[in-house]
Amino acid sequence: YADEHIRPRRLQDYIGQPVVREQMEIFIHAARHRGDALDHVLIFGPPGLGKTTLSHIIAHEMGANLRQTSGPVLEKAGDLAALLTNLEPHDVLFIDEIHRLSPMVEEILYPAMEDFQLDIMIGDGPAARSIKLDLPPFTLVGATTRAGLLTSPLRDRFGIVQRLEFYNVADLAYIVQRASTIIGATIDEGGAHEIAKRSRGTPRIANRLLRRVRDYAQVKGNGLIDADIADKALNMLNVDHQGFDHMDRRLLLAIMEKFDGGPVGVDSLAAAIGEERGTIEDVLEPFLIQQGFLMRTPRGRVATRHAWQHFGLNIPARLNLSG
Ligand code: ADE
Repeated sequence: YADEHIRPRRLQDYIGQPVVREQMEIFIHAARHRGDALDHVLIFGPPGLGKTTLSHIIAHEMGANLRQTSGPVLEKAGDLAALLTNLEPHDVLFIDEIHRLSPMVEEILYPAMEDFQLDIMIGDGPAARSIKLDLPPFTLVGATTRAGLLTSPLRDRFGIVQRLEFYNVADLAYIVQRASTIIGATIDEGGAHEIAKRSRGTPRIANRLLRRVRDYAQVKGNGLIDADIADKALNMLNVDHQGFDHMDRRLLLAIMEKFDGGPVGVDSLAAAIGEERGTIEDVLEPFLIQQGFLMRTPRGRVATRHAWQHFGLNIPARLNLSG
């Protein structure tokens, strides 16, 4: 059972993200009723929250095909042109990491999105020709970790913009229960709750931990995933009680132990822990900030009192005074 079996295919099976769900229900219903393609959708949010899942659901609910690609894969204008000219009316073209499109590919996208027109140069030198083709009405679904990474002409061409939030524990527990049923794992409420609590608010992580905890329950227990087995398995996997993994802890400890709690610039931090700046910004920081362990300030990153407490370190006097 790969991830695609676990993915919900209908909006009604999409758990959490109430704002996204309510809006998409209305927009999809309205577009279908009018017989239009759905307006273009930009989805942004940290990795693993279901951007791809949502694009599958949109295509399925529109009764259309989904074509998938990603920004870095579309190297030349012709790569995008080939995809666009193969679309059927109302199809969904999903472009992951859409902030990584080359400027030339992005140029092709503007008239395609706005007027369903393909405007492309073929050949070069004196034989070069500009050709224009009508495209079927389609829906572009673009995904990115941060809306701020997009050029504004591109961002402005999306009629629908959805921001995915971290999931709360109750919603994640429900996602874990649902996935367990699909993969045939036996789990009780306590087990689902324990995995949910320690999954960084992220369904992709919850589903991965579920599989590893199931392995553990099978070998070290009787197969049932309860709270106790889940706790032991997650400890073995180095996932702590806040759901922080090895890299989360490295980042927080570096700020506290190497930079006196900050503020420290993200590039210094990247060098100190041997991680790419982009990974720190897009993968590690959003959850730590949302949980109140880290702050982004104009002068750099700062560990909060929660961070010092979590690691059993003495809270610096300056934080006590200001708190
Ligand atoms: N798997 C990933 N995201 C999900 C969601 N929002 N609801 C149900 N299953 C999911």
